[in-house]
This record gives sequence, structure tokens and C-alpha cells, in this order.
Amino acid sequence: MGEKIEVMISQENLEKRIREVAAKINEDYSSTELHLICVLKGGVFFMCELAKHLTIPVTLDFMSVSSYGNDTKSSGVVKIVKDLDQPLEGKDVLVVEDIIDSGRTLSYLLDVLERRNPASLRLCTLLDKPDRRVVENVNVDYCCFEIPDEFVVGFGLDYAQNYRNLPYIGVIQSA
Ligand code: IMP
Ligand code: MG
Repeated sequence: MGEKIEVMISQENLEKRIREVAAKINEDYSSTELHLICVLKGGVFFMCELAKHLTIPVTLDFMSVSSYGNDTKSSGVVKIVKDLDQPLEGKDVLVVEDIIDSGRTLSYLLDVLERRNPASLRLCTLLDKPDRRVVENVNVDYCCFEIPDEFVVGFGLDYAQNYRNLPYIGVIQSA
């Protein structure tokens, strides 16, 4: 530990942008209830901040997936470590993710969730790294920030499980 972190997106800018995206979601789902699915652990800070600004009726559920491989690159092989508690049948579902990188995790996950017959299924991500995408079929419905191809930490995102609690998005400086 003891690395220096350079701020990429400040806490203030994160909170401001999340409020804007929440307002759009309130508008789009004004006549329905929304079932939020948080992908643990990275999505948890974002989901909480987003949910605080939703004024429509909201329910929450959590799932945890792990991709086989090392910490900084996803292998495309995804395992459900903790499944949802509630069924998705007939619900308007919004998956809340921390970051879309290659898109492999989400491509797999959206496929699994679609087969549970939700009324609708959309994706909301805090960060998107479009330059890194290798999977075509991941449609991002709501994105707070597009970022360049850099490894970021904070606001839920980790490096070897550390830094998730930083209230901003930062880049680890190599010494
Ligand atoms: P994908 O399957 O390549 O899209 O990988 C997505 C997952 O990789 C995310 O949910 C994160 O857990 C992790 N990830 C990708 N990029 C970063 C990053 O810059 N910082 C921290 N975790 C990342
Ligand atoms: Mg994640």
C-alpha cells in the first residue's frame, strides 16, 4: 500500500452526474416500479448513491459474479457466486454496474437475466471504457462517465480488493 492516487473524477462531480442520471431514470420509468440489481461488490456505492435520488418506487436485489482470471483483466468465463433473492419475471429491471470494460461480464450476465423473463431489462453503469470493448452485444442504456483506458479505483472499484471506499474515482500512480 501507500501508493499515490490521482483524482480522475471528484466526489462532487460524481454526485452531480449521478443526480442527473437519476433524474433521467425517474423520467423514463415514471409510470412503473423499478427493480435495481446491484452487481457486487463494485456496484454497491453507485447503486446506493443512485437509489437515493430515485423518486419512483424501487426495489433492490444483489448478485455477485466472479470472472476467472487475474485482477485487472476479465477472462470472459463468469461464475455466479451469489444469485438474486427474488425472481425477475414481469419486472422492469435495471442492472447497476460499476464499470464496463471488455463487456464480457455484462454480456454473460444480461443473457442469464434475460432468460428469467423480466418485462424489461436495461443497463446502467457508472463508468464505461468504450475503447476496451471486445463484446458487441452490450447496450449501455445509462452511463455516467466514459473514461479512457486507464485502471481506476474508488467509489466501489478496487485494486486487489483495496480502495473501494474512496469517495472519488482515481488512478494509482506508479512510483
Ligand atoms: P469486463 O468483463 O471486462 O467488462 O470487466 C468488468 C469488470 O472488471 C468490472 O466489473 C470490474 O470488476 C473490473 N474492472 C474493469 N476495469 C476496471 C478498472 O479500471 N478498475 C477496477 N476494476 C475494473
Ligand atoms: Mg463489477
